[in-house]
Amino acid sequence: MLKPARRLERSSTQFFATLNHKVASLQAEGHDIIRLDVGSPDLPPAPHILQALAEAAARPDQHGYQPHNATSALRRAWASMYARLYEVDLDADTQVIPLIGSKEGIFHLNLALVDEGDLVLIPDPGYLTYTQGALVSGGEPYYLPLLPERKFLPDLDAVPPEIARQARLLWLNYPNNPTAAIASLEFFEEAVDFARKHGILICHDAAYTQVAFDGYQPPSLLAVPGAVDVAIEFNTLSKSHNMAGWRVGAALGNPEALRLLYKVKTNADSGHFLPVLEAATVALTEDQSWLEERNRIYSSRRDLLVTGLRRLGFNVESPQASLYLWCLVPEGWTSSQFATAMLEQAHISLTPGVVFGQGGEGYLRLTLAQPEQRLMQVLQRLENWNWREQNYAT
Ligand SMILES: Cc1ncc(COP(=O)(O)O)c(C=O)c1O
Repeated sequence: MLKPARRLERSSTQFFATLNHKVASLQAEGHDIIRLDVGSPDLPPAPHILQALAEAAARPDQHGYQPHNATSALRRAWASMYARLYEVDLDADTQVIPLIGSKEGIFHLNLALVDEGDLVLIPDPGYLTYTQGALVSGGEPYYLPLLPERKFLPDLDAVPPEIARQARLLWLNYPNNPTAAIASLEFFEEAVDFARKHGILICHDAAYTQVAFDGYQPPSLLAVPGAVDVAIEFNTLSKSHNMAGWRVGAALGNPEALRLLYKVKTNADSGHFLPVLEAATVALTEDQSWLEERNRIYSSRRDLLVTGLRRLGFNVESPQASLYLWCLVPEGWTSSQFATAMLEQAHISLTPGVVFGQGGEGYLRLTLAQPEQRLMQVLQRLENWNWREQNYAT
């Protein structure tokens, strides 16, 4: 028997890896499972991006290793997107590092900056990799509750000074996964002040900044004057451009943090596939108008699902951004009980809120990444499912 390393014993196999097995075995029994669990966009990238990938992949000189910081064209493309969307001026060589999906950088940053026993400030509920990255590096998560009465924004004033002194990183994520909450530039200003006061690096995970509805435009934390002194932002094409399987993200901002992350990356990976880098550059620089239509499709799904769920008696907010609905669990159930029963009996898979931390208990997360016709089936199945007659309260 192999003995796992202690650092691995502190972490856990990711929820979706385990869920995928369970869904696969129900599918093997012949059940049609509707997946509203993982936030993987169902729609494709725009045709001009696919064409750029195909053309580059057909060339014989595109198949070798690439530099760990990708191509200068892609770094410049990311910097130009930040200038265009947020009026943030970034140096493409020192303030942008492409990543193999933002998850890669979110995880590896801990190896660069977190020592045994260091504290990492993490929102609860929050994206799982913040905790797992901290644990694998020997760090200790210190959770900041995200509460509905504070619109799911952490109360930074409530962090005790001795905790702030020992903290190395502060994770923030708006538009938020899983709560779908949004943050204003004023909140980001407070966070920058807090980080400056305590010598903490803010890591803002901006995975959903381009998935927003009804004319709302989520801000970048880097738009706060001086943010680059104390912050980096993670960005990704996964959700913004429907390219989750391509694995292209970036870390942007504080050059010193990026230099240390780069040092880890030179040892941990060997870059991307060049055609992916070329098509990602096209995605960031050429026609962006299709994103508006894509967001309109999401908002129409949101309206359908929110209206239908409310009609069935669920308590759910209508989000302004992100790929998710954050819905209260009916009384008498835990989030895991309800999600398991729903998967096994109604064959709808969603994510119990507790997966994102104790602060997520009492909620269910549903994604908007299914066509309307499937969402109508979800509502129909929920209507037919006799969950109200089951009692888990004991
Ligand atoms: C909040 C958040 N951050 C980061 C990621 C990772 O995205 P990727 O690694 O595909 O860039 C996700 C994916 O679901 C996410 O929800």
